[in-house]
Parts: sequence; C-alpha cells; structure tokens
Amino acid sequence: MVAESLDTQSLDAAAPAPPIAESDRSPARAPFDDLASDWLLRHLLDVDTLSRDEILRILSTANAMAEVLERPVARTPALRGVTVFNLFYEASTRTRSSFELAGKILGADVINVSGSGSSVEKGESLVETLNTLAAVGADAVVMRHPASGAPWLAARTIDGHIINAGDGQHAHPTQALLDAYILLREFGDLGGRRIVIVGDILHSRVARSNIWSLTKLGAEVTVVAPRPLLPASMTAGAAEKEHPLSLPNVRVESDLDEAIVGADAVMALRIQSERLSGKLLPSSAEYARRYQLTAERVAQAAPQAIVMHPGPMNEGVEIAVDVAHSSQSRIEAQVSAGLAVRMAVLFLLIRGGA
Ligand code: MLT
Repeated sequence: MVAESLDTQSLDAAAPAPPIAESDRSPARAPFDDLASDWLLRHLLDVDTLSRDEILRILSTANAMAEVLERPVARTPALRGVTVFNLFYEASTRTRSSFELAGKILGADVINVSGSGSSVEKGESLVETLNTLAAVGADAVVMRHPASGAPWLAARTIDGHIINAGDGQHAHPTQALLDAYILLREFGDLGGRRIVIVGDILHSRVARSNIWSLTKLGAEVTVVAPRPLLPASMTAGAAEKEHPLSLPNVRVESDLDEAIVGADAVMALRIQSERLSGKLLPSSAEYARRYQLTAERVAQAAPQAIVMHPGPMNEGVEIAVDVAHSSQSRIEAQVSAGLAVRMAVLFLLIRGGA
C-alpha cells in the first residue's frame, strides 16, 4: 500500500527509519522517538519555508509511518496522551478524514470542530475559538480556513502546534508533501523531471505549495491555464513565460498540447467555482476542449508519465473519466499517501517540534 518502496537514496540519506517493532516494544520511550530527535519546527504553515532536507525528512518519516499501516492492527501509541483538534471552516473529505485517522492511528485523542454546528455560527471569532481550544487542552490544531493567512494568526495566538490544512487560495502544505511523496516513490529523484500542473492556478493553494516543494526537490514545473485563471504574478509583461515568482524552474504556458509533450507527470486541478468571482471562463465545455486531460493528450507525455489530481475531481471537465481511472493514474495512491504523510507531520511537530 502506501509506501512500501519509498526507499530512494535521497530519502534514506535524509533519515534512516529505525526498526519500528523494536521501538514500539521499548517501555521507556514512545515509539518512533528517534525519528523526531532534533526536529525543530513547531508548526507546518506552508512548504515555502521548509528546506529540501526538511521536506525529505518528513517524507522519510512518512515511509516509516506507512509500515505501521501495513500491520495487522494499524495502531501505535506514538502520540498517546496528545489532544489534536481538527478545526475546519471549509468543506473537506480527504484532508479532514486523513488527519483524523492519522491522529487516531498514532494514539492521539482527535476532536473535530467545524464552522457549522460550533460557536462560530453564533459569531465567535477565530481568535476566541482558538483560545477556547487551548483552554480545553489542545496540543495541536489542524486548521482549514477560507482566509489566506489564518493559520499564521493561529500560530501567534495559542501555544499549540498549528498545521495548515488549506488556507484560502494560499497554501496546502500537506497536499504538496503527499504529492512529492508519490512523485519520489515513482521516480526516485525529481532532479530534471518535468511536471505539468494544469487548471485553475489562480485559485489553487495546491498549485502554489506544489510549486515550492517540487522546485526545491529539483523538478521543472510548468503551469498551464487560460490567462484568466493565472495569478497576476504569472502574467506580468515579458516575464510571462520565464521564471514567474522569481523561481528559476517554473514556466507558464497557456497551450496544454504544447506543454504536455514529454512531461513526466501531469497534475490536473479543479476549477474552483466557489472562489470564482465573476465569469472568468466562457463555459466548462470550452475549458474542457482546450484543457481537459484526455487520453490523447496524456499519450503525448513521456511513456512512463503519471497522472495526478488532488481531488475532488470533476470528471469530464478537467480530466476525462478514462484518464482518471487509467493505469497511469496515481489519484487513489495520492489519497492513501495522505494518511502516512499526515501521520509523519503530526508526529514530527508534536514529538520533536520546539
Ligand atoms: C483543496 O483543498 O485545495 C483541494 O485539495 C483541492 C480542491 O479543492 O480543488
């Protein structure tokens, strides 16, 4: 399942996994404590501030966590006695359920709080809600919020560890980490690999975080979208095609048929209609005609190319049904990997983070 073979050289070099069953048997220390030794980061707000080594360290820890998931009873008391709140102000299926399960597998108490059904509906502010969670003993808060930057406010407000599970159009660090995990498992090393991200780049926190992490890992990223779905920083003047965001390994294209040729991986993104202000696109049929990942287009990519999507998918719009379920698709594997990666993040921050 998740990462049986993420034993790439780079991951091994970053942090060799200790024998898990041994560490679980030790009465004096919590399981996996060695994996968290000298880990200093307290929060995970985005991947832009992570070093390449820190990214690889998280992914290597995820590899050890994946071994727990292979056990007949997938449980370990590594976070016993810890209380984690999942504070979600926006809809989520994958991220929320995998954080919940990740915490439970590690032995933490996990409590879900959503905007609806909580005191948020009675007008309570984010700061008050966070103070309330701190007062009842939150060690960590996994947080999704429609306002970009909300997790940074949270990190300044309470003492607990804050994990950004998606803030507005800004960042989605655990999605980027699990995407990197899948790509490293597939290719071993991302140096010089060409990755195409196509879709609603303007509203996508997934695209933003992936651009940071994939380029840190040495990949060349091409973002593809119709002009109205690109952020201003990517359409400004002559820099349009070369090095947006001052990142040397990022290119911007508007023609998917051109960009996809020879790509090692193609990631399709959903049109985020809930964030579209005004009508940026003529129609989804017209969008699909030019930007849908079809089998014909994927055939122009490298022979071993893989197809990814963070979900939720609109099959028949940004991705054809047969492509979403083809042998090249890693979309289900992305969801599975999310569990091990989120276990790793919770564990490293809570057991190691200063
Ligand atoms: C997100 O939360 O950003 C999702 O994973 C991607 C999406 O909503 O399209």
